[in-house]
Amino acid sequence: LTGAPALPPAWALGHHHARWGFGSEQEVRRIVAGYLEHGLPLDAVHLDIDHLDAHQVFTVDQDRFPKLPVLAEELRRDGIRLVSIVDPAVRALAGNAVYDGGLAGEAFVRDASGEVVEGVAWPGEAVFPDFTHARVREWWGGLYEERLAQGFSGFWHDMNEPTSFTAFGESTLPRSARHSLEGRGGDHREAHNVYALCMARAGFEGLRKLTPEERPFLLSRSGWAGMQRYGGTWSGDVATGWPGLRASLALVMGLGLCGVPYSGPDVGGFDGDPSPELYLRWFQLGAYLPLFRTHASLRAGRREPWEFGDEVLEHARVALVERRRLLPYFMTLAHLARRTGAPFVRPLWWAAPEERALRDCDDAFLLGDSLLVAPVLTPGADRRAVQLPWGRWYDTATGRAYEGPGQVLVDAPLARIPVFARAGAVLPVRGEDGGLELEVWAPARGRTGGGLVVPDGGDGWEEPEIERYTARWTGSRVVVEREGEDGGCAPSYPVRVRGTAER
Ligand code: GLC
Repeated sequence: LTGAPALPPAWALGHHHARWGFGSEQEVRRIVAGYLEHGLPLDAVHLDIDHLDAHQVFTVDQDRFPKLPVLAEELRRDGIRLVSIVDPAVRALAGNAVYDGGLAGEAFVRDASGEVVEGVAWPGEAVFPDFTHARVREWWGGLYEERLAQGFSGFWHDMNEPTSFTAFGESTLPRSARHSLEGRGGDHREAHNVYALCMARAGFEGLRKLTPEERPFLLSRSGWAGMQRYGGTWSGDVATGWPGLRASLALVMGLGLCGVPYSGPDVGGFDGDPSPELYLRWFQLGAYLPLFRTHASLRAGRREPWEFGDEVLEHARVALVERRRLLPYFMTLAHLARRTGAPFVRPLWWAAPEERALRDCDDAFLLGDSLLVAPVLTPGADRRAVQLPWGRWYDTATGRAYEGPGQVLVDAPLARIPVFARAGAVLPVRGEDGGLELEVWAPARGRTGGGLVVPDGGDGWEEPEIERYTARWTGSRVVVEREGEDGGCAPSYPVRVRGTAER
């Protein structure tokens, strides 16, 4: 009803590191060097409003970021993309090119008497584009050209409720503000909820024209049903604390059921200082969510994995390496989300809607059809109970098989969170040489299994074919075949079967 989810570029399924307040190119280089030196996979770095000239959208602080395109090029060589924050508020100052252009094009929201409505946002006195007008969207979409020239590959829409700081009342546009609403005309009461949706559309359509060969990457703090057509969203400023960690999972699961499959939290929480344990547990959960991004406020403590001691660093590395290994699986799930609407992250009852015990289960989730992830959401835990749906499930760390339905108690040391694989699952993973491999979990005896693979490592528009695999016992071996019109054939990828020792 609300449209198919956009397909993120492959790099967006990796690890992102963000922060409000890197403050300079040197600091960005220091962080990236830290990731590389510590052997931590990194796919994207996000630059927040501190890289802008006086917080003005579509500008760069030339003193602190004098050679942004060079930095972007260097990072790109290491396989790391730059993502830019884009806020809708435009500084109301003659001489600001976006302001002047927007005034000339009658792009800003006005009141009933025809005056441009002014508010206050990060750049100070500001005006707001009326994204509910096709002409305004087109103008705004063209502005991303400046960002692309700076070397950015992705865009992070923020403060787009839209936020206007006020001492009293609602921190958004006045209810009486007028909007085009596609020519029909109406006020902000009607436009408020679709404002960011229309901004996302403007960005997405602009990028489709500016870089037609690439899939756009867009994240948007505010949104509405249908925003998935243009991109994903994140938690916003989730509070640093164990309740925030728990809320992160509820958020991603709920959004997925509402048709928005790509989202994730600010790993570690937005404000303050998480304890090493909280940071690690958040990191371990984040590694299995579609958007895996560390982010924090200007005033918050550090969020780099090496800032929490050697033990956390070691365990965070394991989570990052595992995320990278699972990238082909995440990519397959992104394709399936687009084709079927099924989100990456699903509540356990998705597996068996008739199993009542699963309906209230909010502390574990299914990642696609093949994996069940049971994050640790409480302090001091080294074991946890997991409600398993029907069938056989392997603890992927120990290889031990459990029979569902029922509750099991499993180890959850600081080193990892419990992850189970469904018996019979066939999932694509990245092999050590970077190529695709099939990880297969032995079906229970007398049963068969299978899985889907959509091979796509890129960011273009080709439509890879869905490959279907089956797994079954033949004598003492598990045989994996690719389904074809003329029957099965051997897969063209290396196959690794696990769980065969368990009967
Ligand atoms: C908002 C965003 C946050 C960002 C900050 C500064 O609080 O939610 O992610 O860091 O603004 O741009």
